[in-house]
Amino acid sequence: MAVRVLLSAFLTVLLGVASVHAQDTKEAAKAVSNEDGKYLDAEGTPTYNIEPDGTVDWYTFSGYRRYHSECHVCHGPDGVGSTYAPALANSLKTMDYATFLSIVAEGRQNLSGGKESVMPAFGDNKNVYCYLDDIYVYLRARAVGGIPRGRPPKKEDKPEGAKEYEASCMGS
Ligand code: HEC
Repeated sequence: MAVRVLLSAFLTVLLGVASVHAQDTKEAAKAVSNEDGKYLDAEGTPTYNIEPDGTVDWYTFSGYRRYHSECHVCHGPDGVGSTYAPALANSLKTMDYATFLSIVAEGRQNLSGGKESVMPAFGDNKNVYCYLDDIYVYLRARAVGGIPRGRPPKKEDKPEGAKEYEASCMGS
């Protein structure tokens, strides 16, 4: 619960500065720094990294797995969408990081036109909120065409930072 409150406070700050997001591209998503296996773009937003031999960073690989256990059932394999829920590999072409985090934490409902379309809130689900950046960078990579469909064939080792964050988040 404490984490949820913190997350909401954090999102409020982030959303306060969020502006209209331009189309995301491979150039904008290019990793310019790497802190213990966590890659960031020029604006400091989490992003993916892929080596010429197809090796992806740990978070992208982890995001692939988390996405397919928690989101796939509604949003389709590889973020391609379904008749029920939108293609996130498409949504993230224009949706910024803060908006993504807030929708996943708070959920969203669209009851217009007589059809019920519900995105559940995951703010209390550790299997999701402990891996939000992982899922984000995976979908970002899919959105800008950085990685193909399917399971990434090779990945970097799990960084110490990822192990520590996971232990504290899952244990809290
Ligand atoms: C029970 C089905 C279901 C599950 C599971 C689910 N979603 Fe959704 N999601 C939806 C629906 C339906 C919508 C569209 C809601 C609307 O129309 O406002 C949606 C919308 C979204 C959006 C907004 C997309 C846009 O283009 O505006 C994001 C982002 C999102 N989901 C992320 C996720 C992530 C990440 C996961 C896994 C952690 C997930 N969803 C799991 C049903 C689901």
